[in-house]
Amino acid sequence: MAHQPNHDFIIQELEKKYKAINQDTATHLEGLLHSKPITYWDYIQTDALLSLQIQRTTLPDEMVFIAYHQINELIFKMILWEIQQVAEKEALNVVFFEDKLMRISRYFDMLTTSFDIMREGMDVEQYNKFRHTLTPASGFQSAQYRLIEFASTELINLIDYRFRKTIDRNTPFEHAFEHLYWQAAGKDYTTGKKSTLLINFEKRYKEEFITFMKVYNTKNLWSRFKELPEADQKDANLVKAMRHFDYTVNITWVMAHYKAAAHYILGKDGDGEATGGSDWQKYMHPKYQRRIFFPELWSQEEIDNWGENV
Ligand code: HEM
Repeated sequence: MAHQPNHDFIIQELEKKYKAINQDTATHLEGLLHSKPITYWDYIQTDALLSLQIQRTTLPDEMVFIAYHQINELIFKMILWEIQQVAEKEALNVVFFEDKLMRISRYFDMLTTSFDIMREGMDVEQYNKFRHTLTPASGFQSAQYRLIEFASTELINLIDYRFRKTIDRNTPFEHAFEHLYWQAAGKDYTTGKKSTLLINFEKRYKEEFITFMKVYNTKNLWSRFKELPEADQKDANLVKAMRHFDYTVNITWVMAHYKAAAHYILGKDGDGEATGGSDWQKYMHPKYQRRIFFPELWSQEEIDNWGENV
């Protein structure tokens, strides 16, 4: 019987585990006798996942639009998952930071390089039919995209340039929220009137956003970077990873997105109007938005030319 596996150690560990939570080990072991073996489809929840693509029209390419957006949301989730680990890490060090940043960047690289699936993957005529069933919704209302921004940078870098001088660390979050750069897509600043796109978005997420903004005020990627020892903040690989992330999110992705939008909205059946109703050609271009997560890591010239010649 010498070749029989010895389970004593495992049993002892199980005893310890269940004793700690006041549970009877024997009952749990007996449960194992009846438990179902795991399968791929139960674990990955394939059936649930594949039942979530519900079209509003009969046009086949609407499926591409829905599925690709859902894939984006899943990837956004993974990005937030990694950022959160940097945000919460005790005794953060440069190796851990860089490793997580590279994971985050790879996800965003993937979103950028795959954007042709949107641009080339749908028939322009079909797109311009099913999009009319989507008004007044827009990818603008992706909450996770906004959370990624809040979790990446200091709030001031997300404030509309026109109002930056009036906002500092003592400004109430509510006031800062009203002057986030993306309010420009749905707010008439002279009258203060908001579009339905923005009203619906805020009704659903504003409270959550304000809480998140407060939490990440001191633990966004930039604040955590500044907590590192000075020498680590100069680590060439880390700085490169930070710059790569900033450039990918705020220029490469934005341009891929802008080009896809132009392809359909200004294409042969397009009417020039965005479903969300923004002044999109101006609003979406990186040279107008000039969103930069880590301005200290760019030269003045790079900042001045942000989004130009791309
Ligand atoms: C054919 C494909 C697409 C078109 C034509 C398009 C068009 C637009 C337009 C015109 C806007 C400006 C807001 C408005 O609707 O008025 C916008 C914003 C936005 N879209 Fe898309 N989009 C497309 C695909 C996507 C995809 C795949 C995502 C991924 C989730 C996405 C996420 C966003 C986000 C996050 C914003 C807000 C960007 C910002 O505030 O700077 N879009 N989109």
